[in-house]
Amino acid sequence: GAPVKADLTKLEPGAMIVIEWRGKPVYVVHRTPEMLELLPTMDPYLKDPESENAIQPPYVAGKERAIRPDYLVIEGLCTHLGCAPKYRPEVGAADLGGDKWAGGFFCPCHGSKFDLAGRVYSGVPASTNLVIPPHNFAGNILEIGV
Ligand code: FES
Repeated sequence: GAPVKADLTKLEPGAMIVIEWRGKPVYVVHRTPEMLELLPTMDPYLKDPESENAIQPPYVAGKERAIRPDYLVIEGLCTHLGCAPKYRPEVGAADLGGDKWAGGFFCPCHGSKFDLAGRVYSGVPASTNLVIPPHNFAGNILEIGV
């Protein structure tokens, strides 16, 4: 299919939009510098902090899993059984693990948790990080599926 394009100019820092691509929801989060600073602190709580087992294009390697660190582009499908994880950006949410919760995605089906790079937490049913679709940027225009 043809790539899907989205203009991210109006996506506020900290906000998320959902874009449909090939029948799948793709989440795009405008990550703030504060969000990015927390990512390396999460490594001890994660199953695959370096994304060695993740399904992702080679150009998004590293803890940030992004071409542009300020934009996370990720499939909104839990890697356990495919429910839609909820975006929970608030740091320290008590119901999600307090100190260990640095913002991310919570799957309501069986409680899997992912950080703001889509990296899966230890001790949850999902075993792999959220999938990153092929994508690219032209300025603030995101293209998914290229
Ligand atoms: Fe997400 Fe099971 S489908 S935890």
